[in-house]
Amino acid sequence: MLAARGHESLGGLPPGARSSSVSGSVTALRLNSNENPLGPGENVLAAIGAAFGETNRYPYDMERHVQAAIARAQGVPDDHVLVGCGSGEILRIAVLGYTSPDRPLVTGLPTFEAPAGQARASGSAVIEVPVDRSLALDLQPMADQASDAGLVFLCNPNNPTGTVHGASAIDDFIAYVGRRSPRTRILIDEAYHEYVDDPSYRTAVPIARQNPRVIVSRTFSKVFGMAGLRVGYAIAQPDTLAPLRAFKWNAGVNVLASAAAMTALTDAAHVAAERARNREVRQFTIDAIRKLGYEVGESHTNFVMVDLRRDVQPVIDACAKQDLLIGRLFPPLTRMARISIGTLDEMKRGLDVLDGVLRAGTRH
Ligand SMILES: Cc1ncc(COP(=O)(O)O)c(C=O)c1O
Repeated sequence: MLAARGHESLGGLPPGARSSSVSGSVTALRLNSNENPLGPGENVLAAIGAAFGETNRYPYDMERHVQAAIARAQGVPDDHVLVGCGSGEILRIAVLGYTSPDRPLVTGLPTFEAPAGQARASGSAVIEVPVDRSLALDLQPMADQASDAGLVFLCNPNNPTGTVHGASAIDDFIAYVGRRSPRTRILIDEAYHEYVDDPSYRTAVPIARQNPRVIVSRTFSKVFGMAGLRVGYAIAQPDTLAPLRAFKWNAGVNVLASAAAMTALTDAAHVAAERARNREVRQFTIDAIRKLGYEVGESHTNFVMVDLRRDVQPVIDACAKQDLLIGRLFPPLTRMARISIGTLDEMKRGLDVLDGVLRAGTRH
């Protein structure tokens, strides 16, 4: 089960909204879902093993313990934490709780698609604001579009472009939206928080504690290496979380995932090692791609976005035929490929395949 990693955008979507074209054999080189290639640490694996004795019990109590452990780690009261089945569940219930046909979701384009997919599936309006020329979320037009919006989805750093906004830009955005549209909530998705190197970046968790209009989401799927276990959470004031709770699946975080999450929170060394490993392999990947003659932007995440200067779907398909899975299409950036950072060996093998595909393509 731990090995059956899928296409990460599906996490936030209802099953009916999933495309059957998404595939991937377990033996393929999976550079397509921004997962941690090494998985959780030894301590977490031991905790999962030790929790098997509890698997005959419903996980209600466990979830309360996870909530308390997250609250402790984040320095907020327990009632400011809502645990979900991946942060995908948090995104989903935030859209359900705060958007409607006349209270749109404002989101980036491209950004993580699950909130827009959920909004459309449930009949809410969606306003998509294109990224700017540097591929960063375009905060001013997003803020302008937010008047009367139910929810703004702000992915920081942004998936798939890898860009990040510093603390003062986020502060200004929140203040501006708050003045113009006090009923609008802002969901700041910090799935890639631990990978950010930009010194101007800061988590918005302290803001979510103070400001009832702000929700922060986090996940155990990335730096903690637990994408297959499905644990994420929201931080916000209790009244802000109430509309999300109404849609939350009551026992969505299972016993094994709960045990893993609580232990992962105590394993700072594993997080530090993964951050350092990712940074090094990411730099190797960026240098190697530039050597191949393609432009790749700065990344504050565990993936890079590469300008292949051609329609990327045939490249994605050709790579898949050679058992290399790279990121899906992110319209309107249809000439760019998102490549997740695997191990150094995986990146060497993956870039060899990609290079071959690109060279074959240019001969035609
Ligand atoms: C920005 C962002 N948010 C949320 C998610 C959902 O992650 P999960 O449901 O595994 O926590 C992802 C998955 O890749 C993501 O990229």
